[in-house]
Amino acid sequence: MVQASHVDESTDEFKTKENSPPSWLKRARIIAALIYIFLQTAYFIFIIVCIAVYPRCQQAAETPWWLNSVFLRFSTPTMKFNDLNEKLTDYKNNFSMQTIWLSSVLPLSNELNPLTWTDIDATLGNNSTLINLIDRAHENNIRIIVDYPLNHLSIQSSYFISNDDDYFVWNEQGNTSNWMTIDNNQESAWTFNNRKNSFYLHQFYDNHDSIDINYRNNRVLNDTINSFSYWNRNFQFDGFNLQGISYTYEDYEYRNETDNIKRTRHLDEDYLLLARIRTEIDKEKILLLDSIDSLATTNDEFLTRYYGDKNGYLGGVQLASLNNFILIDEFQTNITMLFNNYYNSIFIKQDQPFIWSSLSINSKLNEAFFAACLFHKGAISIDINKQGEQFTNDQLDRLRQITKFAQTLDVFRVGNIQQNILSNSQFLTIERTRRGARHHMIIINFSNTEQEDTIELKDGVTNAVEVLVTNILDSGTKYETNALIDMTKSIRLKPYEYLIIRWSPSIDGLGIIF
Ligand SMILES: *[C@@H]1O[C@H](CO)[C@@H](O)[C@H](O)[C@H]1NC(C)=O
Ligand SMILES: *[C@@H]1O[C@H](CO)[C@@H](O)[C@H](O)[C@H]1NC(C)=O
Ligand SMILES: *[C@@H]1O[C@H](CO)[C@@H](O)[C@H](O)[C@H]1NC(C)=O
Ligand SMILES: *[C@@H]1O[C@H](CO)[C@@H](O)[C@H](O)[C@H]1NC(C)=O
Ligand SMILES: *[C@@H]1O[C@H](CO)[C@@H](O)[C@H](O)[C@H]1NC(C)=O
Ligand SMILES: *[C@@H]1O[C@H](CO)[C@@H](O)[C@H](O)[C@H]1NC(C)=O
Ligand SMILES: *[C@@H]1O[C@H](CO)[C@@H](O)[C@H](O)[C@H]1NC(C)=O
Ligand SMILES: *[C@@H]1O[C@H](CO)[C@@H](O)[C@H](O)[C@H]1NC(C)=O
Repeated sequence: MVQASHVDESTDEFKTKENSPPSWLKRARIIAALIYIFLQTAYFIFIIVCIAVYPRCQQAAETPWWLNSVFLRFSTPTMKFNDLNEKLTDYKNNFSMQTIWLSSVLPLSNELNPLTWTDIDATLGNNSTLINLIDRAHENNIRIIVDYPLNHLSIQSSYFISNDDDYFVWNEQGNTSNWMTIDNNQESAWTFNNRKNSFYLHQFYDNHDSIDINYRNNRVLNDTINSFSYWNRNFQFDGFNLQGISYTYEDYEYRNETDNIKRTRHLDEDYLLLARIRTEIDKEKILLLDSIDSLATTNDEFLTRYYGDKNGYLGGVQLASLNNFILIDEFQTNITMLFNNYYNSIFIKQDQPFIWSSLSINSKLNEAFFAACLFHKGAISIDINKQGEQFTNDQLDRLRQITKFAQTLDVFRVGNIQQNILSNSQFLTIERTRRGARHHMIIINFSNTEQEDTIELKDGVTNAVEVLVTNILDSGTKYETNALIDMTKSIRLKPYEYLIIRWSPSIDGLGIIF
């Protein structure tokens, strides 16, 4: 047996030596095969991993702190700094807000025109109570910005009272110029002054309290610049809202205006002043402009000059607030048209964010309006007196939910936006999409026409469509939060009712791999 075995083995060895390749080659083959299998497996795993993580490979860009956030605005000086200080966290929780927006802290006349450039209104507080408020806000992760009116002073200011005439804009032939006030277009913007036997300019009517300061006087320009430097240096505000930048300079020769040619707005000097102010304000602080009018919003060149282009012209004037799109009369304003105008404006094309605000006091409209705005790029500004106090707890709850996902989901912060007006129903739909993320859409009835409509979701195969938030109260269980809805059926919404839905589109990452 032992021998046979031995013979067998030797035969084997013999065969191996005779017919097989040398053992080193055999080993090499095995190694090669193993490497091949290993690479195949690795490649296979790689593909699986790619498919799984692909959506996350698309890194979200850094977004600024104010994006998709809520500004709570105090448009008139109503509260002492100390009182506001005590209510800060309440406001933060109730409104889910990131930013307190104060009205000017300067001493103001009864008509709210500034009396000086550097003091604090004593009825609001003093240096230390303001600093306390700002510090307390920051401790609670709340930003704080402030209005800065810069076009005019009150006629009760010491400059006017002390006959510092160079400080203001005068015209001995004021009544030969057709400039009218902004807030009362029947009222000449020139008022005769007996002492000086001349006319002074006030582009705002303000019950005859305001007087335009003369930026062509270097002393005035210097005072304004020094004042910005003062506020920037001594108080840790997170930004300023420049009120009236487009009114600051007027035509040198006081030439008459026509509907198409403005002599008091959007002069080259206005932009230069803005750029000069920007250099006084720390880069991380934001500047808001709230005096851009319809002339500018329809004019790409104007908008680019104020807000900059992609190359950051003006060094980063970062936010816009467009007055003419503020809702003035909820019964006459076609809000769908308003969204349409925004969507077609250079703002969207240039990816420029803006602040959405409302003047309406109809809280149903405001809720729907702000809900829709949070689908757009920018921030919403809730005026505490005009809207804030009108909201019910339920409404605030819903807005809080919307704010929360608008702030936390990348699809809102960096996703694409598609807005539509459905031709039958005039429903406004705004959709947020991002590769690999669930799509979100708000559907709102801002119209008063008798229609209903079905909404066709793009991207073919969609998984179940889920209701995320809605203000529809009386439609049974159909539109409850988290309910699945059948988008092939038509949707009916009363005025200012909205439905926010989300769904997973077909897995579009696969297309890249295969
Ligand atoms: C916040 O909400 C609570 C509960 O509704 C209410 O009692 C409180 O007055 C609100 N605070 C502010 C500052 O609005
Ligand atoms: C500021 O006002 C607070 C509260 O009214 C007061 O206690 C404090 O002394 C004032 N500080 C200054 C520097 O005037
Ligand atoms: C407030 O603070 C500023 C800057 O520190 C200072 O120049 C100013 O005199 C202070 N005002 C008062 C009333 O203390
Ligand atoms: C312009 O105002 C001056 C001073 O009030 C007055 O004397 C003059 O008649 C006025 N001229 C016109 C054209 O109204
Ligand atoms: C400018 O407008 C004023 C007031 O309407 C008028 O009196 C004056 O003639 C106009 N001047 C010119 C040059 O058109
Ligand atoms: C402008 O302000 C500076 C201080 O920042 C001052 O030194 C200079 O004299 C001022 N110039 C005028 C024309 O007021
Ligand atoms: C409102 O505006 C939209 C978009 O511009 C327009 O399609 C619609 O007809 C307008 N609705 C009314 C009632 O004017
Ligand atoms: C929008 O609301 C109005 C007013 O209730 C209603 O008549 C209309 O049918 C609604 N539109 C749609 C498409 O449901």
